[in-house]
Amino acid sequence: MHSEKPAHVQAVVVLAAGEGKRMRSDTPKVLHELGGRSLLGHVLAAAAGAGADEVAVVVGHGRDRVQPHVAQCLARARTAVQVDQRGTGHATQIGLTALEATSGTVLVVMGDTPLLQSAALHDLAAQHRAGEHAVTLLTAQPSDPTGYGRLLLDDGGQPLAVVEQRDATPEQLGIADVNTGMYAFDLAWLRDALPRVGTNNAQGEVYLPDVIGLARADGCSVGLVRMADASQAEGVNDRVQLAALTSELNRRTLTQWMRAGVTVTDVASTWVDVTVSLGVDVRLLPGVQLHGATTVADRATVGPDCTLTDVEVGAGATVVRTHGSGAVVGSGASVGPFAYLRPGTVLRADAKVGTFVETKNSQLGPGAKVPHLSYIGDAEIGAGTNIGAGTITANYDGVAKHRTKVGEHVRTGSDNVFVAPVEIGDGAVTGAGTVVRRAVPAGALAVSSGAQRHHEGWTERKRPGTPGAGAAAAARRDGEDAAPAAVRQTVDPSPSTPAGQPDEGTRS
Ligand code: UD1
Ligand code: MG
Repeated sequence: MHSEKPAHVQAVVVLAAGEGKRMRSDTPKVLHELGGRSLLGHVLAAAAGAGADEVAVVVGHGRDRVQPHVAQCLARARTAVQVDQRGTGHATQIGLTALEATSGTVLVVMGDTPLLQSAALHDLAAQHRAGEHAVTLLTAQPSDPTGYGRLLLDDGGQPLAVVEQRDATPEQLGIADVNTGMYAFDLAWLRDALPRVGTNNAQGEVYLPDVIGLARADGCSVGLVRMADASQAEGVNDRVQLAALTSELNRRTLTQWMRAGVTVTDVASTWVDVTVSLGVDVRLLPGVQLHGATTVADRATVGPDCTLTDVEVGAGATVVRTHGSGAVVGSGASVGPFAYLRPGTVLRADAKVGTFVETKNSQLGPGAKVPHLSYIGDAEIGAGTNIGAGTITANYDGVAKHRTKVGEHVRTGSDNVFVAPVEIGDGAVTGAGTVVRRAVPAGALAVSSGAQRHHEGWTERKRPGTPGAGAAAAARRDGEDAAPAAVRQTVDPSPSTPAGQPDEGTRS
């Protein structure tokens, strides 16, 4: 349940100094990612959403990488360094040194629980305040309590202590209530209590939950909040758990979007980062991954089989079997199948990038089309222009990149090369196989290929005995029967008229 008016939270302390040995990784555990954020990033988002005045992160292992990451995730968060990991109580004590607040409510959370939501923290704080407790424990009943500290209650049902897995008797291991590792504390009391916690346990560490015993000895009240959704407290210790929580987080993200009006054909093969935003009546077909700052506007269809990172898809657009990053797809535009949109690609409304087309740092005007087998890099293509199949912008001279500018309502033939820097004027036309090396004036037809020549009888003379020579001989005999002898060699007329040329381009 989410309290209507959450109690004010002075601070959140995030414990993230541990090594995470079981990840077997060069990367500190809390930096491993799922759903578009690091483990720590998810926790910081929940902490920020809880409305805390201050957020302090205790860093230690891999802090040269964790510290800048904290700044990236939440600029106002402070970090405190725990050089030796001497336990959660010790870490919390260090965390408190980074806070300005001296009284009020402080929450302590772990850095490795990616499903944690702000609402759970609001609720914890509210119940802590309402009960006027010194400590309020957030507990849960996970399906498998192995590894967690078990909660011991007194006869009156009040928390007595937490006993760690490795310190517990077989009987205590049968207890279903576990400590989630998240708490609300009266800050002034906690500052006073922590230095008094001992290290009499299997690990010789300062255990944070041991403050429960001190609270009771001090005659303070200890509260208990049972968390309905235990998975929000689930920590990641190894990569098997990381994969399990990755799936669970994704399932939750998709559920939220489906409730908001998005159709997801196949939940199992659709992956959407928590940072993605989707409109109403968006359809995600199987095999779609949406990452980063990707947004998909109303009525657009993405998939099957697309990976889009930081791509903006406009209303009603269609993106099929496409790999894209840093691109904008305008409303009503059509992309794919088999397209590669690289950063800086901007497709205006109703533009088309078709099959086996790669684009980079290029703009297509409204309704412009690049339907087949092309590379368009560092180019600007005007409204209503159609680029023929197999067109390449030769944008790189081996030293620098150059731009190609194609005007509006241009029709370019198949298999063209635009040797940049170059411009093609509005309404111009190019013939098939044209290599455009200099500016084409508006309205002109550009043709660069040489006249076609025929060497009659070449195959029979130069490739005697081949199937081709046989076929050619048969065709010649048929021709001789039908008509008088042919000319030995002909040269076709220079293409001074554009007859047939524009049709050599492609359009669809
Ligand atoms: C802790 C709790 C346990 C609870 C469990 C929930 C204690 C003694 N035990 O056990 O009751 O059920 O969490 O997951 O608190 N950390 C530091 N510095 C340290 C030690 C730990 O920053 O010196 C950080 C770790 O990076 C981690 C968190 O504190 O994020 C918890 O530490 P961990 O060693 O995983 O504690 P658990 O054994 O899981
Ligand atoms: Mg742990």
